[in-house]
Amino acid sequence: MIEVINLHKSFKTKQSSLEILKGLSFKVEKGQIIAITGHSGSGKSTLLGLLSGLDKPSSGQVLYNQKDIFSMPFKEQNIFRAQNVSLIFQNYYLIPHLTAVENVMLPLQILKLKNAEKEARFLLDEVGLSHRLDHYPGELSGGECQRVAIARGLVTKPLVLLADEPTGSLDSETGEKVMSLYFQLVRKHNLTSVIVTHNEELAAKCDHELKLHQGIIHS
Ligand SMILES: Nc1ncnc2c1ncn2[C@@H]1O[C@H](COP(=O)(O)OP(=O)(O)O)[C@@H](O)[C@H]1O
Ligand SMILES: [Mg+2]
Repeated sequence: MIEVINLHKSFKTKQSSLEILKGLSFKVEKGQIIAITGHSGSGKSTLLGLLSGLDKPSSGQVLYNQKDIFSMPFKEQNIFRAQNVSLIFQNYYLIPHLTAVENVMLPLQILKLKNAEKEARFLLDEVGLSHRLDHYPGELSGGECQRVAIARGLVTKPLVLLADEPTGSLDSETGEKVMSLYFQLVRKHNLTSVIVTHNEELAAKCDHELKLHQGIIHS
């Protein structure tokens, strides 16, 4: 499903070049849930940015079903990403002036797909929030916000769900409940997932754990 080949990422600062990822190679098979762990600053979010195609590598490739996302023309890459890759963040990134159902409808509206409201309601029901459709993010708990974000991630029927510290802002009990739902939905919809996490318990529940240390992967 996803193949990472000799991925390098450096950031140029005024004085020098900072090499964060030093040639990563790994595969994620369809249906797998992979954890990426490592110290703060080890490059986990940088790696997720590359997997999502939001950021560009210094060198190396990210293949989705054998197709290199960075060799696609810009427009094609944007469409590929919108249709196939969803991202979940520690801080949810919901739009504050849109209700739960409007937040979940948004990706479908951007893709000009039909039945946005119906699909959004269906997904919010799947994440157990059919009683919170018209609430704004400020009127929802952290766990509820993350469930809205999961619904928004799933509504486009992507191939891949990427999550960056999805439990980082939740207490441990809420985090566990949200991730139990996450796992259930990834399996049900036959998705592939990469989860960046500090949480060792969560990492242990994944199919594999890749440890990022000093720019190299240790599995
Ligand atoms: N745009 C950038 N420019 C310069 N350095 C960056 C940039 N983004 C991240 N870094 C550096 O790269 C390292 C890895 O960052 P990050 O991927 O956010 O780590 P993690 O998510 O594992 O905590 C950090 O040392 C950070 O300071
Ligand atoms: Mg990070």
